[in-house]
Amino acid sequence: MKGVILAGGTGTRLRPMTSIVNKHLLPVGKHPMIHYAIEKMAEAGIKQVLLIIGKQSAGLYMDYIGLGQQWGVEICYKIQENAGGIAQGLALAEGYTLPGEKLLLILADNLFEDSLNAQVQKFESQGTGAHVFLKQMKDSRRYGVPVFDQGRIARILEKPANPPSDYAVTGIYLYDDQVFDIIRTLQPSARGELEITDLNNVYAERGALSHSLLSGWWVDAGTHRSLLDAGMKLLERDRL
Ligand code: G1P
Repeated sequence: MKGVILAGGTGTRLRPMTSIVNKHLLPVGKHPMIHYAIEKMAEAGIKQVLLIIGKQSAGLYMDYIGLGQQWGVEICYKIQENAGGIAQGLALAEGYTLPGEKLLLILADNLFEDSLNAQVQKFESQGTGAHVFLKQMKDSRRYGVPVFDQGRIARILEKPANPPSDYAVTGIYLYDDQVFDIIRTLQPSARGELEITDLNNVYAERGALSHSLLSGWWVDAGTHRSLLDAGMKLLERDRL
């Protein structure tokens, strides 16, 4: 299985720092944010990872990561020229993953405790369709939120004002090789982006979306407060 990390985006909620450096290079604990998604790929047993970045700070990513030897993975880079949404960014991985090959996608601003290794191995050997990782949250309105029907995800609502459940769909996803054909069928949302939630909903409609729960902490480090929160958790984890 190949890995895809999305680390583009403009990080508007983290201005002014993100005016001079890409969000995923900001410090979290003792490392730049991007460090942890690569670490999670390695922990999951994935050896080849495509890193999708914007033009902002492209050289800094390469200075820090190089080919990825320090994690024992081989990193390739691709540039997402325009911020057209997560699903548009993922579409750039077509051709990097081969026909029949599955992929693990991590949004680089998602910082979390769990190892993905067991789910990745399971999906690799017997998974079809797509798989999402959920986390129970006090307030799920900032995230994709699943609607359950008899224990399965019937549909995901993107940032609903009245969440149908207190679970967040995290930015960690497993896909089969149908994913690129499905992305081609998506229409841009009201904000002009190809939404990851629309992609997942196609799988849900087909009855092909499975899920599991994260048991450890999970933070979407997209705001100043959540960035600090993730930093403290990682300092504790690394005993710093
Ligand atoms: C994206 C997804 C959302 C998901 C979140 C997880 O939102 O659209 O469904 O819950 O990532 O981090 P964003 O944070 O890009 O607004």
